Amino acid sequence: MRLLLAVLLATFPLYAQKYKDPKASAEDRARDLLSRMTLEEKIDYMGGHNDFYIRGIERFGLPEIKMTDGPVGTRNYGKTTAYPASILTAATWDVNLARDLGVALGKDARERGVHILLAPGVNIYRAPMNGRNFEYMGEDPCLAGKMAVGYIKGVQSQGVVATVKHFAANNQEWDRNNVSSDMDERTLREIYLPAFKMAVEEGKVGAVMNSYNLINGEHATQNAHLNSDILKGEWQFDGILMSDWVATYDGIAAAKGGLDLEMPSAKFMNRETLLPAVRNGSLSEKVIDDHVLRILRIIFRFGFYDHVYAMASERNENPQNSNVALELARGGMVLLKNDGILPLKKSIRNIAVIGPNADSFVSGGGSSITNPFRYETLLDGIKKISGANVTFVKNAVPTMESYVATSPFYVAKGSKTRGLRADYFNNQKLEGKPVATVTDAVPNHDWNESPDVAGVDPDHFSMRYTGIVRPDKSGLYKFAVRGDDGFRLFVNGEKVIDEWGDHATLTRVKEIPLEAHKEYEVKLEFYENAGEASIGFAVYLEQIDFTEAREAAKAADVVILSLGFDSSSEGEGFDRSFELPEHQSTLIEKVTQENHNTVLVLNAGGNVRMQDWLPKIKGLLHAWFPGQEGGTAAAEILFGKVNPSGKLPASFEKEWTDNPVHGSYYDPDGDKRVTYTEKLDVGYRYYNKSDVKPQFAFGFGLSYTTFKYSDLKIGKAKNGLVNISYTIANTGNFDGAEISQVYVSQPKSPVQRPKKELKAFAKTFLRKGEKQTVSVTLDQTAFEYYKAAGKKFGYDPGTFEIKIGASSADIRLEGSVVFP
Ligand code: BGC
Repeated sequence: MRLLLAVLLATFPLYAQKYKDPKASAEDRARDLLSRMTLEEKIDYMGGHNDFYIRGIERFGLPEIKMTDGPVGTRNYGKTTAYPASILTAATWDVNLARDLGVALGKDARERGVHILLAPGVNIYRAPMNGRNFEYMGEDPCLAGKMAVGYIKGVQSQGVVATVKHFAANNQEWDRNNVSSDMDERTLREIYLPAFKMAVEEGKVGAVMNSYNLINGEHATQNAHLNSDILKGEWQFDGILMSDWVATYDGIAAAKGGLDLEMPSAKFMNRETLLPAVRNGSLSEKVIDDHVLRILRIIFRFGFYDHVYAMASERNENPQNSNVALELARGGMVLLKNDGILPLKKSIRNIAVIGPNADSFVSGGGSSITNPFRYETLLDGIKKISGANVTFVKNAVPTMESYVATSPFYVAKGSKTRGLRADYFNNQKLEGKPVATVTDAVPNHDWNESPDVAGVDPDHFSMRYTGIVRPDKSGLYKFAVRGDDGFRLFVNGEKVIDEWGDHATLTRVKEIPLEAHKEYEVKLEFYENAGEASIGFAVYLEQIDFTEAREAAKAADVVILSLGFDSSSEGEGFDRSFELPEHQSTLIEKVTQENHNTVLVLNAGGNVRMQDWLPKIKGLLHAWFPGQEGGTAAAEILFGKVNPSGKLPASFEKEWTDNPVHGSYYDPDGDKRVTYTEKLDVGYRYYNKSDVKPQFAFGFGLSYTTFKYSDLKIGKAKNGLVNISYTIANTGNFDGAEISQVYVSQPKSPVQRPKKELKAFAKTFLRKGEKQTVSVTLDQTAFEYYKAAGKKFGYDPGTFEIKIGASSADIRLEGSVVFP
């Protein structure tokens, strides 16, 4: 018998090692390989390595699995195409374009030898301040879900695994590692989970990433209800569930709570923690097997074992992908206000472009930030398209950087040497002897990858600035620090700024009264963990002089303001203000006093407070963070070469206090628990039933043409499906696209249900004078809600209203259907 087996093995080696057989199913191959791994190997396999990899295992020929960030570009391996922010993608409401984006990202990933793209992000927009709204897809689960499915299918069509993140309820960045998002089961199921569910069930996403925040008191990475019961149980997700980077807290709890892969390394799910537990029977080896099997299954399913994913030796701009970036930017910018000023006339001779964002690449900050091969700024676009004389005023609002060189820094008490002493350490904790000490006359650095100080490690270093501030004049001074990662500032021994944690670039300012010629000791400590590093420090009396902007505005026929946030003021790791950055609303006021023909092009991941200045400007184009082609797209829209067609994927409140979330956002009792007291009433679900109205409703966006809706036909429910059709006609003078929205409600319901909920939408391009019939089909899920008692979705037979809207507040056609 033994002899026969040996002969067989020699004759049919592939059968002997099924995992090597490309004809065997992915499932069989994964199981076969698993059966050959030792317990130690399996445990090791559950932890990532080298920051963005799953380790390879040479004896099985298992390759290393390489990851890169998304969602707006393949971030980690040098220059690449920079696509617009995900919220802009959502604002296109164009599922085909989302798919094109996925395909383009998949290609970019393949070119970089990447197997897993860490995107898309689908967390719900709950409040405008959330630093990561720009990486997500708005307030509505149906919109976010459908766009994510298109995106995922596109990525995965290129043989690259997509990773839907962050599971779940990461709706604020403020204190994100400690705060628990608390909500009832129905709210969780109806608002915060559907986009993930669609990503899994329809998109067949290969990977899911847990969030940093806790959910109902339990860390996401060990939340068995979310991970095991819902994701892997009810939705039957059979791929990889990975942690966010350093979001695992307890190895055994995570292994038991559903986490398959701890990223970026096995800090907790490792031999030391898990082996004894398996050996003493408190953790079953079957649990370990399931985690490893999921990783192997995806590797075989996507062909990672059989095909080499190699980094191309040269990576150049791909014009097709740049075109996807351009089409998205054209389709996702939202025209919010137009008092007849737009499109701007070709006859305009003098244009003043004012504001810090006009000549730079504007994106949100954090792990999605992408270094583009090339980018078109708004200024480039305006110059190219307008043919007018363009005057540009960049420093209309001074930044902290403009004060660094004149800050009254001296290296020591009584010294006349300007600058600060900088001690560098090759560890993150300022420990031991410095490896380098320099005098830094201008303490302002934006090191892309590594500091340019001899002897200092590119990553995991720290630095301490010490010196004296000796001002010539008395006054209320600003102490401003900008840094990526952690920093803390001490003045005369007292800690006045503390951002000692990993985060993207952010700026903090503290005002301190100083007396002329007195000396104040300053100590600024900084560390860098990995990736980009930056530190800047300035002490100044602010002088704001709007003269240049005023004069330029006065001399121009039209003013285009380019304001809002950028990667240092909005991004991962912190929340931003609802107000525009410092002094920008005053600038709008000053400029509009000189020239009424003012249009604002706004950069932000969501809404900003507009009440003070909205009435004073004639046009407002929300450009979000528009990617490398954003300048071209915005200029094309301003000058009418492209008709704007984006619509808001989130409600824009007038005041923060109008938002139903406002009382339950910033951990109101300081107990690290944020209770979602508004329940289902997020965004339009609230404004629809309240007397409080938003400034701009969910689904709103202006066009240069007009659309007429007619002929609503609602078929009878048949085989669980309802067919709906209606006609849209372009009745204006421009070709253009219209986003029509299908809302459903059940007025007579045994439980409270929202007045309307988005269940379908369509984007239809029509030449002027043209009309088209739009058809959509609703299935049973469009009528369901989460029946908490029965612990599942269901519906109550009866009459449902069907509303077809140009926005959530602008319903054009209404009808009803009996869903039996
Ligand atoms: C982010 C993730 C990202 C990861 C790797 C984390 O800080 O939350 O979205 O994929 O870093 O860069």
